[in-house]
Amino acid sequence: MDVVNDIIARKRDGGELDEARLRFFVNGVVDGGIPTYQAAALLMAIVLRGLSDDETVALARAMVDSGKVLDLSPVGRPVLDKHSSGGVGDKVTIVLAPLVAACGAVFGKMAGRGLGHTGGTLDKLESIPGFKVQLSQGDFVRQLERIGVAVVSQSERLVPADRILYALRDVTGTVDEVGLIAASIMAKKVASGTSALVLDIKVGAGAFMTTLAEARELGRRCRLVADGYGRSLTCIYTGMEAPLGCAVGNRLEVEEAWAVLAGEGPADVRDVVVALAAALLSLSDLGVDEEGGRRRALAALDDGSGAEWFERWVAVQGGRWKPGEFHRLAGDELRAERGGYVAAVNALAIGRAAQLAGAGRRRAEDPVDAEAGVVVSRRVGESVAEGEVLATVYARRRELRETAGEALKGAFTVSEERAVAPAVVLGVDEGDSR
Ligand code: URA
Repeated sequence: MDVVNDIIARKRDGGELDEARLRFFVNGVVDGGIPTYQAAALLMAIVLRGLSDDETVALARAMVDSGKVLDLSPVGRPVLDKHSSGGVGDKVTIVLAPLVAACGAVFGKMAGRGLGHTGGTLDKLESIPGFKVQLSQGDFVRQLERIGVAVVSQSERLVPADRILYALRDVTGTVDEVGLIAASIMAKKVASGTSALVLDIKVGAGAFMTTLAEARELGRRCRLVADGYGRSLTCIYTGMEAPLGCAVGNRLEVEEAWAVLAGEGPADVRDVVVALAAALLSLSDLGVDEEGGRRRALAALDDGSGAEWFERWVAVQGGRWKPGEFHRLAGDELRAERGGYVAAVNALAIGRAAQLAGAGRRRAEDPVDAEAGVVVSRRVGESVAEGEVLATVYARRRELRETAGEALKGAFTVSEERAVAPAVVLGVDEGDSR
């Protein structure tokens, strides 16, 4: 039996893979020595049998070592980072990045593109005309020194193993295993060289993790990896039954992010941003605790300094930002068939509708439409009369609006009883992983 076959069979039979075997696998995937069919077979065995804590850490380490690790020490200060496990309408980074900088800390992030029903920060930022997401390492560091904020696309040289494995997982039904997800997220975060990380782990219909218990397990696994590299990590669990805020779609979400920075916008987006900013500021060198961080973040939202920093940041990355000058595509409205209270808005259905409208991609190489998407008009807990608008889908062509409109049907549950909007921040874990 060859070595790869032995590794696959060991996992298939419920055995443990030691670091040497996991390194052999990761290196073979990157250098092409292991064919795709064997890699896919091992991934499926892993999904069926699961990864242990030790295997998760060893896999993350092997993935980090598959590429380059950025050195951000020339910035001379802790560089703060945030990662979301993926959701619908999640425009948090666009508000958080300039807000943290406006509060005096340094925020640097390597972001990704959207896939499936979840959006990606790079696609959202690129919906601002002229915004450049490709910066050299030197320019990334210089921008952090100069204005304290930079969000760029992940360098091809970091964690090449994840790019290959994630693409394979995506088409072989092998995304959903907590150890694989933790290793994938944390390898990228470790390699990007940031000092402290806040993970926004989404919980609910529109997320990878559908229960808080599963989400906490993902947080615990990520902490095991972070501890091994001496990186500070706070996990914040936020609800993703319904989309975050009202706008879902690239430029639509940037507009909503801007509203939050201007002291307006939906309360749930503001709540998540403030919780993450408070945690990040307490991990910075500003000498504030979480409560102090919260006060600073709220002040920067209310006094306009967060919005000013956004404008500076966008200009430095080449973007031309003119609030209010947004071209709206033609929209089709979904209207309530009966009156009552909105009891549920299904994030997955709204995310799929936005994707079908053109805001998202089915395959990694698909283009996205910057202006397409869905805007929700009635949210959980709100009353609606028969015939009133629940949501509007914006798309470039009528057939796209129709297909997306079909996907939108059934996304809203209207009941006679008044429903209460659930809290969006469900929990925070700063503790030790063991
Ligand atoms: N996000 C990642 O970066 N990796 C995963 O495996 C899942 C979500």
